[in-house]
Amino acid sequence: MKIPIKNICCIGAGYVGGPTMAVLAYKCPQITINVVDVNQNRIDSWNSQDLSKLPIFEPGLKEIITKTRNKNLFFSIHIGECIANADMVFISVNTPTKTKGLGAGKASDLKWVEASARQVALHAKAHTIVVEKSTLPVRTAEVVTKILKSSNNYENLKRKSSFDILSNPEFLSEGSAIDDLFNPDRVLIGGESQDAMNSLGEIYKNWVPEEKILYTNIWSSELAKLTANAFLAQRISSINAIGALCEATGADVREVARAIGTDSRIGSKFLNSGPGFGGSCFKKDILNLVYLADYYGLKEVANFWEEVVKLNDWHQHRISRLIIKKLFGTVSGKKICILGFSFKSNTNDTRESAAINICRDLIEEGAILFINDPKVEPKQIAIDLNKDEYKELKDINKIQLLNVEGLWCFEENIYNAFENADAIVVLTEWHEYSLIDWGIASRKVRKPCFIFDSRSILVKEDIVKNDLNFWRVGDGNCP
Ligand code: NAD
Ligand code: UGA
Repeated sequence: MKIPIKNICCIGAGYVGGPTMAVLAYKCPQITINVVDVNQNRIDSWNSQDLSKLPIFEPGLKEIITKTRNKNLFFSIHIGECIANADMVFISVNTPTKTKGLGAGKASDLKWVEASARQVALHAKAHTIVVEKSTLPVRTAEVVTKILKSSNNYENLKRKSSFDILSNPEFLSEGSAIDDLFNPDRVLIGGESQDAMNSLGEIYKNWVPEEKILYTNIWSSELAKLTANAFLAQRISSINAIGALCEATGADVREVARAIGTDSRIGSKFLNSGPGFGGSCFKKDILNLVYLADYYGLKEVANFWEEVVKLNDWHQHRISRLIIKKLFGTVSGKKICILGFSFKSNTNDTRESAAINICRDLIEEGAILFINDPKVEPKQIAIDLNKDEYKELKDINKIQLLNVEGLWCFEENIYNAFENADAIVVLTEWHEYSLIDWGIASRKVRKPCFIFDSRSILVKEDIVKNDLNFWRVGDGNCP
């Protein structure tokens, strides 16, 4: 018997919880959805009347929020009450890599998942389906089950609450989250109880074709999520490794990618060489896989996947080393304009962005960075770079005269940022950077000036004809 779901509570109002529940509310107006979080500021932002203040930027998100918020979608900090009213609870909290203790640097820190499970155990009434939406190590459902079923809270026993646990990992990508949620390649539901799986399946059937809803056992579902991210990240490390070889041999990584991508067994997606993958999940999820493989004594498996992360780290530092080398071996006191700080375009998320390592390297070498990003707040960049000097530097134009080094500032206007620049580095593929007028840029920079395109979004000829030096990732024909 499948239980019809009328009320959902989602714990965690982040990059996954917010957009996922907004789309669910939009597609299922018959269901009331409460998204709850411990972070009052985040909830206030979700409830802000000014939609430019939503805590995350995603194309199409504002429109969905306008149509659903305070109709059947609510954001609050009333965790207990919302759990008590729910037939189904999604756990969509953060699961970062542990920074200390057993498994530090590799294993996922499950303290927020555990805390959520305890909250559910404490407040649930009657039968509740608990859905793991967060990305979790295999067999986490065991831990969640133990917490839920061993609850000896008196009230809880009186209420006769009972639970089914499902795994329903999320595959959305930031920057295209709404589109991905509207048209998923698949929806994965893992569990033991067929009834509970059907109840969740029925929700998705409101907009997802039935053949795209896959049912598996719970462990396969948990492992499939980690595996999907590991395979995607592995493709990027593979193409970035080949890009470095292209630069050394005169080949062009774009041509190689096109040639191999037409093989239907390989496919053309995720073959863009860039500055190295970023984002909150690829590194964390692969390291988690490495930890699991190690834990089960599979050393070779662990080593294999760890290389994907190691290559990515090497590649990010390779880009900064290359910039320094092209600028005659030193960037000390030189002005470098950084275009893009988010880990990819169409998001304000900077978690694990390649820009962080590359900017830190350049600052360490004494460069003066003028950083631009259309969506990332200067405050966030300051946190990521562990620096607050941007305040001091903000209004200084002729920086080369000041004999300073190793500083950065944020510059909203990219043409102002070009003033006297020795180099311009594209780190995120924001569309506006592909529209730059290189004639104007050429008149503003200090010559010789070098343009570094780590995203292959610029037109080489436009740059070279304006008397600027050009380098792009994986291009063996750049001087
Ligand atoms: P996030 O950090 O943006 O959001 C998590 C939210 O959970 C935070 O707002 C935090 O305050 C809240 N939270 C933590 N503990 C809580 C508790 N006990 N009670 C209430 N709220 C609590 O994280 P995210 O990017 O949304 O990722 C969430 C999960 O989804 C992770 O496991 C991640 O791996 C996975 N995932 C993320 C993406 C993505 O694109 N970001 C995509 C797929 C899967
Ligand atoms: C990734 C996966 O694509 C999602 O399916 C998954 O749900 C999500 O992780 C997650 O679990 O968090 P996301 O990190 O948001 O999504 O973005 P991606 O588009 O995968 O990009 C990740 C990084 O790889 C970015 O830095 C991007 O610039 C880089 N990338 C991507 C490349 O360098 N080349 C490519 O061809 C593709």
